Amino acid sequence: MNEAKLSMEELRREIERLKREKNAVIMAHYYQRDEIQEIADVIGDSLALAQDAAKIDADIILMCGVHFMGETAKILCPDKKVIVPDLKAGCSLANSCDPEEFRRFIEANPGYTVVSYVNTSAAVKAYTDIVVTSGNAKKIIDSLPKDEKIIFGPDKNLGGYINSVTGRNMLLWDGACHVHDRFDLEGIVELKKQNPNAKILVHPECRKPLQLIADKVGSTAVLLKFAQEDDAQEFIVVTESGILFEMQRKCPNKRFIPAPAKDAECQCNICEYMRMNTLEKVYRALRDETPEIIVDEEIAQKAVKSINRMLELS
Ligand code: 13P
Ligand code: SF4
Repeated sequence: MNEAKLSMEELRREIERLKREKNAVIMAHYYQRDEIQEIADVIGDSLALAQDAAKIDADIILMCGVHFMGETAKILCPDKKVIVPDLKAGCSLANSCDPEEFRRFIEANPGYTVVSYVNTSAAVKAYTDIVVTSGNAKKIIDSLPKDEKIIFGPDKNLGGYINSVTGRNMLLWDGACHVHDRFDLEGIVELKKQNPNAKILVHPECRKPLQLIADKVGSTAVLLKFAQEDDAQEFIVVTESGILFEMQRKCPNKRFIPAPAKDAECQCNICEYMRMNTLEKVYRALRDETPEIIVDEEIAQKAVKSINRMLELS
């Protein structure tokens, strides 16, 4: 069949057929396009995607997110085929931490426990003692002895937030996500003036002033849960706007307002890496079983220890 001619409906049907035929599971992050979230078997934040990948019963995992999410799934499931819609869907935060520079940083600070955010390459995870996500970072850091010296990389905003809520003084790598780093504080304050009853939901990858004006700071899953459980009817959402799809689906009667980015062309903030995945690419990936995520075996053997430590402590 010529995929260029397939309508959205035909793509959806073909994806369903291929999924059954190949015993494949489609996992998607909350920042994926609406139509990908719609056909996914599992939708979640980085933590849920890692936890679910570890126990999934399928021959093929099609990970719709960014590269490090596919790598994490492959490291946890070396015997499964892990494919992604687009191998070029990377992450500016993961890219802000070069593995060799990170190794030199660790060597320059002996005696430190190395904690890395899951938004890192497999090579960085191989130099790491414990991986965390924004959903479990506080819990994991709290579980370490109070006097333990900790290096935290690569997100300085998340690291600063964890320092402030745990009273630690972790040594921070100077990295950031270009999406969360460019939210417009003044624009958000203006939105709050126009919508005084709206609560402000902020991802911890955002800068400190945004964390300080938040009613809730948390991972995508934590923000989603807060929106479901809180009495407020309106929320200003300060993270990638893909999450609005699941928020609206879970809370059809509440209003979600995307927060603006500085210099953005639209009124929201989008991760262009996440949006590289399309329904057509999902279909082709399933049909051709490519592009496949391959992780160097030696790196995977080291990285799996730091990821498993996270899963044990979560
Ligand atoms: P979550 O773990 O909160 O889903 O975040 C992933 C991510 O890439 C944030 O930019
Ligand atoms: Fe990476 Fe930022 Fe995109 Fe998340 S939003 S995948 S941290 S670039």
